This record gives sequence, structure tokens and C-alpha cells, in this order.
Amino acid sequence: MHTVTFDSANGIGRICIANPPVNALSHHVMHGLADGLAQFEADPSLHALLIYCAGKTFVAGADITLFDDPAFDASAFNATLARLEAQPRLVVAALHGTALGGGLELALACHYRVAQSGTRVGLPEVKLGLLPGSLGTQRLPRLIGAGPALEIMLSGKMIDTQEALSCALVDAIRDGTPLDIGMAYTSELLAHNAPPRRLSQVRMPDQVHASAIETALSQAQQQPHYPAKQAIVACVQAAVSEDFETGAAVEANAFKTLLNSPASRALRHLFFAQRVAAKLPQNATSTSGLAVETVGILGAGTMGTGIAMCFLNAGIPTVLVDATAEGLQRGIGLIESTYASNVAKGRLSAEQAQAILQRLTTSLDDTALAECDLVIEAVFENMALKQQVCQRLGHICKPSAIIASNTSTLDVDVLAQATGRPGQVIGMHFFSPAHIMKLLEVVRGEHTAPAVLKTVMDLAKKIGKTAVVSGVCYGFIGNRMAEVYMRETEFLLMEGATPAQIDNAVQALGMAMGPCRMLDMAGIDVGAKTVIEYGKAGGLPPDPSYRAVVQKMFALGRFGQKTGSGYYRYDGRTAHPDPETERIAAEVARAHGIAKRNDISEQEITERLLYPLINEGCKILEEGIAYRASDIDVVWTAGYGFPDYQGGPMFLAEQRGLAHIVQQLEHYARSRGNPYGYWDISPLLQRLAQQQHSFASHNLV
Ligand code: 3HC
Ligand code: NAI
Repeated sequence: MHTVTFDSANGIGRICIANPPVNALSHHVMHGLADGLAQFEADPSLHALLIYCAGKTFVAGADITLFDDPAFDASAFNATLARLEAQPRLVVAALHGTALGGGLELALACHYRVAQSGTRVGLPEVKLGLLPGSLGTQRLPRLIGAGPALEIMLSGKMIDTQEALSCALVDAIRDGTPLDIGMAYTSELLAHNAPPRRLSQVRMPDQVHASAIETALSQAQQQPHYPAKQAIVACVQAAVSEDFETGAAVEANAFKTLLNSPASRALRHLFFAQRVAAKLPQNATSTSGLAVETVGILGAGTMGTGIAMCFLNAGIPTVLVDATAEGLQRGIGLIESTYASNVAKGRLSAEQAQAILQRLTTSLDDTALAECDLVIEAVFENMALKQQVCQRLGHICKPSAIIASNTSTLDVDVLAQATGRPGQVIGMHFFSPAHIMKLLEVVRGEHTAPAVLKTVMDLAKKIGKTAVVSGVCYGFIGNRMAEVYMRETEFLLMEGATPAQIDNAVQALGMAMGPCRMLDMAGIDVGAKTVIEYGKAGGLPPDPSYRAVVQKMFALGRFGQKTGSGYYRYDGRTAHPDPETERIAAEVARAHGIAKRNDISEQEITERLLYPLINEGCKILEEGIAYRASDIDVVWTAGYGFPDYQGGPMFLAEQRGLAHIVQQLEHYARSRGNPYGYWDISPLLQRLAQQQHSFASHNLV
């Protein structure tokens, strides 16, 4: 099948693009469009040209894989668009699915746009660290005004057909196939002698836009790590103040610069990483998965209620059970107040909220879970309790049901055995708040059936989660790596670094929050208890100074924000440096013979926090816990506040050079000493660094 075909009917030439899955603008599509246009130009008997797409969507943008080719050049495609727009006969685009990026720019070069109901349009290039590079920055402001155009381009959000119609981004909404609505609308336009409309020829009254541009610029300047934002504003400024050709040149230059920017490379890496993370081994992809029509949740606490809302929001009937009336009531209250606040903020109508709540059933009797297709336990993090709960679920759930655990640290294989049906058991590690955080670690146990893994991954997509598969180990991918990050944080505190010094160093790198602020917020008691429990289970190294600071803080009742003091002293939510923390850290350090230093640099802090974390990521890879390094990047950017413009820890490691990471790990092993193996380098990391291979060479799936 040809990617782009040309034919004609009823005096209308038709170009159809068919490049599954999303009709991205590949070289073939771009050449095909130019060929189709030439065929139309060669047939003077035709009155108009219609452009439409086959499959599930209109063009969803340029083919992002092309951007890694340094020779990529949008100018030939842009010239095709100019030719399209310059046609003396009508050119119409029929949109369906999503018209995004270069796809919307193609539509903007046409004289009219008709959209199937439900179509969404947008210019999401900013999410890839880019700007619309096929004259979107020039044509869109001329169509809808600089303010609304800036909003669309700077947010990268899609807007629905109604909104697009109200701002004249589309001219009509129709029901029917893209070909049918396109033909009917083009015929209507011809019947009314509608003239060609060329956005490049629209002149803009500049003074109207000054304030929108000023506001956008000052907001963009506050986000220097996303250079695309300022570039978009500059292009719109050119659109309102210069002629089309000058604006086009500004856009072309800026696009080229952004294409090679580190931020865009990182964001493009994550675009594909998020999608690749969903890919499973052959034995799972070849199964058909199981139907999940109702979900049950055991434990109506912080996590259970958040998880329930994930399913309710996706339209899935959910049964929520707790052992105590008080626990259940608190859970129901939390859910109700969340929806009430969404209604108050205008995010939902009262009717929508009511419809969602009608899908919720609650009970104090766990047999209410008997007919659920999937049951997730979210009771307290305690092995004995969870084993007991899993055994009970094994008895009461119907034989086909999947049983999942939301444990953050416990051994999923042990829980699986307790159910008596280990093949049906899987970990679903949601992050708090579960209805907001995108990340879901899906933990495949030793016996998890491939169909169960596939079912849960499909379900994750349905509820809008970014899911990553992890094998069973302490803390799975994310928390296991976070443990070494916290370990070094505490050693640095004992060596004399202040919480603010540590937090500022990693925040300068782009982490949303430094480790001390983060633990103060999550609760030092929660962190300390995890360490203590892990110690009881025999997991800790035989090092008495291991995470000794957090344990001391816990013993002193400094639980963080909730008690008004932790690593910082709190005034409401505002953190202030607290000299008491330095005194405590120094006391702990003395008790463990750790000497105070005055020479801890920002570079040392970031390297000591990040490089062991990367090293742990490599161990996770070589043990087969993660399928691929890019999955680890997804975990850290979606769940741990790692800056997306750095691409994730493994991507950052490759940017800095794996040999450099090895060298610095060796350096710290020498300077800090290595009696407990903290600085032992992953053999995989060493091998890849020596062979100058990338992590991608070690993808397991
Ligand atoms: N280029 C290359 N591949 C793309 C692509 C693109 N623009 N958009 C999607 N794909 C691929 C995905 O990688 C995935 O591949 P896989 O099946 O091998 O994993 C497949 O298409 C399906 O994608 P999704 O899993 O994301 O499918 P959904 O149905 O969930 O979503 C979508 C569809 C909303 C279109 C979503 O894919 C999307 O947002 N795509 C990106 C849109 C975009 O960013 N466009 C702008 C590109 S930059 C540009 O146009 C520059 C121009 O201004 C010059
Ligand atoms: P929580 O303390 O808020 O809630 C636990 C709920 O379980 C309570 O309502 C309690 O009444 C109920 N419960 C206890 N035993 C029960 C039983 N036998 N049957 C039915 N209900 C019972 O706990 P939280 O924070 O929601 O944690 C739950 C699980 O989620 C734990 O495994 C935890 O490790 C995990 N988790 C927690 C995260 C967090 O940030 N809080 C993040 C990710 C996972």
C-alpha cells in the first residue's frame, strides 16, 4: 500500500495519507504529499483539493525519529505547505482523531478545516523541547490571535473540537468518516463560491498582542531549562511585528537550534522511553489478557482511596473494603471531599461527580470482593498482616481473579505464595497521591502468569498511568535506588554538609525537591521505620552508621513538617535552617567516628547522590529487575521528581559519559573508603564504559 495516494471524485482531488499507527510525517509521507499536490496541479478539471487520513487519526506530527538525524530539515516540507496554501483552487483538510504538531501545521496551510466530532488538535512540540517548525508559530497567531496561540503552543495541550470551533481553528464539525465529511464540506464550500484563505497573507494588528506576549515572555523566562518556551514567544513576537517571510526565518533558525539542544534530546528520549516501557516479552504480548470489569480494593487508607479514584475516574466500578468502620468512613470522606473540591474548582460538573461516585461500593465485609476481577490490597505495610490478608483473598476471590499488592518494599513472591495462586498475583506499586501521580511500578513475581502481566499493563494504560515493569527486589526499581541516594545524603550530613547545602545542590540540577525537604514532607518517622524494618529483616549492611541520622531524628520525635521540625524547622509549610540538625548530625558523626569536613563542594554533593544511584540502576539492569535503562529513567522522572529535561538518571549518565561515572565512583571509593561495598561498581557499568557501548545494547526486551 502506498503511504500517500491521490485520486479524484466529483471534481475534487483527494490526497489520502496512510502511515500507521499515527500518520506521522515520515520522508515517504512528505514526498507523497508533494507528489499528490503535483498531480492535483496537473489536472485543471478539478475544482478543489481535499486532504484526509486513513486509520485512527489525522497526522499526529512530524516523525520524531527523524529528529535524531543531524541532516533533518523541515524546509522541503514547509515549501510543500507554501505551495498548498498558494493554490488558486480551494484546499480543505478533513481532521479526525488527533491533528498535532506538523499535522495541525499541514491543516493550517489548507484554506479550510472540517473536523469529525471528537477530534483533538494541538501543537505539542514544546513537550519535546521544540517549537512548531512548519510555520505553526506564524500561521496560528494570524488565525486565532497571539494570546490564544501562545497558550496552545506553550502548554502543548490538546483542545477539543468545540473549543477549536469557537476560536475558529476549525471551520466546521461534522459526523462521518473523514472522507465523507471532507467531501461534503468541500462541496458545500464550492457551492457557496468560498474563496481560498491564506493565513500567511493575514496582517496582524500588533498593539493588541503586546500584553499577551509580555506575560508569556516573563513566564517563559522563569523556566530557563525549557528554552523552547522563550523561542516560541520570540517567534510569535516576529509573527505580530514582521512580515510572514521574516517570521518564517526566525522560526526556522530557532527550530534548528532547539533540535540540537540537550533539553530536546532528553525530552525526546523520554517520549519514546515512556512508550517502550509498555512493551512486554513475547510470552506476554502473545496472550490476550483478561477482562477487568470490576476492581476491589482492600484497605481504605491514603493509598487505597487514591487507587480507588484511579479506577472510578476511568469508569470502572470499584468496591472499597476496610476492616474498621472508622477506616472506611475516613476513606469515603476523603473520596467525597476530593470530588467535591474538583466540582468547586470547575474541573467536574456536579452530575459527573455524582456519576463517578455511583460506581463506588463500600463494605466492611471482605466477601464483597468475591466477584471482582482484580483485587488490590493496600493494608498496612506489615509482612505478617499482608500474608494473612493474601491468604484470605486467595480463599474469597473468584478463581479467575487477579490479586495485587500495593506494597512498597515487601517480597511479592512471599505474598503470592500466601494466596495459594501465585500465577494470579502481581505487585501494583502506586505512588502517593495515587490518583494524581502518573507512575505505576508493576511488579512481576517469579510465578506471575504472562496474561496477568499483560492484563495489568493494559489496565494501567486505561487508567492513564505510566507503567514500568519491575522484578522483585527490595524497593523495586525506584525505592531501591532512592535508598542509596538517602544513604549518601546522611553520610554528607554527618561529614558536615547542611540540609540546605545538599538540597540546593540537587535542586540546582533540577530535582523538584532535595532529599531533606522530601523526607521532612513524607515523614521522617515513615522513612526511619522503613530502615528499622529492613534491618529487622536482615537487609541492612553491617554498618552501625548506616542511616543513623534519620533514626536519631525519629528517636527525638523530629518527624518533619508534621511535628514542626525535622531536618528543617517549620513555620507552617515554610522550612527554615535549624542549627539543631547540624548539632544532631555532628553528635551522630562523633559516635561513629566520622570526621567533620569543611571542603564539601556542590559537585561532590551531586556526584555522591547521583552516581551511586546510577550505579544501583546498573545493578538493577544486570540483575534483570528492569527490562531496560530507559524504564529506570521513566520511573525517576514520573515518580521521583527527576527533571525531565535531564532525561532521567541513566540518560544523564550517558550524556556525562559512562567512563566518567566509573572514574568518579572509583574516586569516591578511594577518598571515602569502601569497607561495606557502597562504592563497588556494577560489572555491567564497567563493561559498557570500557566497550563504549550504550545502555540500549543491554535491553532485555
Ligand atoms: N513520530 C513517531 N512516532 C510516533 C509519533 C511521532 N510523532 N507519535 C506517536 N508515535 C508512535 C509511538 O512511539 C508509538 O509507537 P509504538 O507503537 O512503536 O510504541 C505509536 O506511534 C503509538 O503512539 P501512542 O502509544 O502514543 O498512541 P496513543 O494512541 O496513546 O496516542 C498520540 C496517540 C496522541 C498521537 C500520541 O502518540 C502523541 O501524542 N504523539 C506525539 C505527537 C507529537 O508530539 N507531535 C509533534 C511532533 S513534532 C512536530 O510535529 C514538529 C513539527 O512542528 C515540524
Ligand atoms: P494507611 O495506614 O493510610 O491505610 C491502611 C488501611 O488499611 C487502613 O485504613 C486500615 O484500617 C486498613 N486495614 C488494615 N488492616 C486491614 C485488614 N486486615 N483488612 C482491611 N483493611 C485493613 O496506609 P497507606 O499509607 O495507605 O499504605 C498502604 C499500603 O500502601 C502499604 O503497603 C504501603 O507501604 C503502601 N504504599 C504507601 C505509600 C504512601 O506514600 N503512603 C506509597 C506507596 C505504597
